[in-house]
Amino acid sequence: MAPVKVGLLGLGTVGSGTATVLKRNAEEIARRAGREIVIDYVATSKSELPQGLGLSNSRITTDPFDVLNDPDIEIVVELYGGDEPAKRLVLQALANGKHVVTANKALIAVHGNEIFAQAQEMGVLVAFESAVAGGIPIIKALREGLSANKINWLAGIINGTGNFILTEMRDKGRDFADVLKEAQQLGYAEADPTFDVEGVDAGHKLAILSSIAFGIPLQFDKTYLEGISKIAKEDVDYASELGYNIKHLGIARRTEQGIEQRVHPTLIPKKRLIANVDGVMNAILVQGDAVGPTLHYGAGAGGEPTASAVVADLVDITRALTSDPGNRVPHLAFQADALSDTPILPMESIQTSNYLRLTASDQPGVLATITQILGDGNISIEAFIQKQSATKTGEKASETATIILLTKVVNEGEMNLAIAEIEALEVVTSGITRIRVESLS
Ligand code: HSE
Repeated sequence: MAPVKVGLLGLGTVGSGTATVLKRNAEEIARRAGREIVIDYVATSKSELPQGLGLSNSRITTDPFDVLNDPDIEIVVELYGGDEPAKRLVLQALANGKHVVTANKALIAVHGNEIFAQAQEMGVLVAFESAVAGGIPIIKALREGLSANKINWLAGIINGTGNFILTEMRDKGRDFADVLKEAQQLGYAEADPTFDVEGVDAGHKLAILSSIAFGIPLQFDKTYLEGISKIAKEDVDYASELGYNIKHLGIARRTEQGIEQRVHPTLIPKKRLIANVDGVMNAILVQGDAVGPTLHYGAGAGGEPTASAVVADLVDITRALTSDPGNRVPHLAFQADALSDTPILPMESIQTSNYLRLTASDQPGVLATITQILGDGNISIEAFIQKQSATKTGEKASETATIILLTKVVNEGEMNLAIAEIEALEVVTSGITRIRVESLS
């Protein structure tokens, strides 16, 4: 059978990784796919194709439309990332009857509903395994392997850069900016690294996972986003003292009222496996009603790990080329006409425990006032630590104390009110650092 001809848009970290893996494992891949898969055409700003990537017989262009309009190309791999021109190119590829593989989580999370509708109309596929959690086959696991289950919730470390930063800060006391720079050099970070540290990238991935888990349309705009930039080394230390690690989690949970879809730093008991996922590694814990918890772990970023997922999508599409479009695995796991309108809940209505850190004057009655406010808000305290604020040797004793509180499960809205009230106290000399706590049991 003739090889399947692929057009590649973008030859950066993931594009080069894809070419490398296709070349190195060509024989195994052809045995699996039933046909050889070759990169026939590459759109890149480079003036020539680099040696050693197995692209010596490939054509090159600076204009991606040359690739999209080429009748020989059956599958277009979009690796430009971002919104435009990626969206225009993908829609054009679909309009031209090409299948698409993309690693572009922002594109799928924000425009996926429109893209999938167009793909459906054209009878072609859009595959996006590499858009979530790099090399971990989590889309396939959720969409196919766990399709017997009602998924109750999932929680994931789904941004490698953020996890790398938190791990290096904790283990080596390294500076935030310094670790971020290294993540950029290693090709982990987004073009705009604030997407990594402010939770936007994780939010894109969570919106995708949530849709596939619960059979709802993609709704990135309703995702609560909070990044890691406000986490201080002392929070990591106090959390540890209380028996927790801090991880940046994306959480999607089904409740009777609707679906929680939120990204924020989270205290997790140290004994949970996911609390020990470090560096650029990602992990997604999925709770299904039949299977119970399953943990999916692997490299969340980087050239070859992400290429592993891109090539798996190429193999899947190659196998599906001759199948009846009506019998393919649906883009969002559930049949397009069977998606539900279960609402995404506003953040104010979720329930979690909370870690609170604040600084207050070290004088009688302060703690009583704070606990009174919490009590009035029906908020119970689970654990408490008080530390004299640090003073240098020879200085007079500090007049402030650092207070760390762990609450029991409370409604987010009630917690917000109590935090505002405590912050307004004259004796409270800092803002409150609040990190949500999840037992993930
Ligand atoms: N910037 C992303 C991360 C790349 O660090 O996880 C993989 O999606």
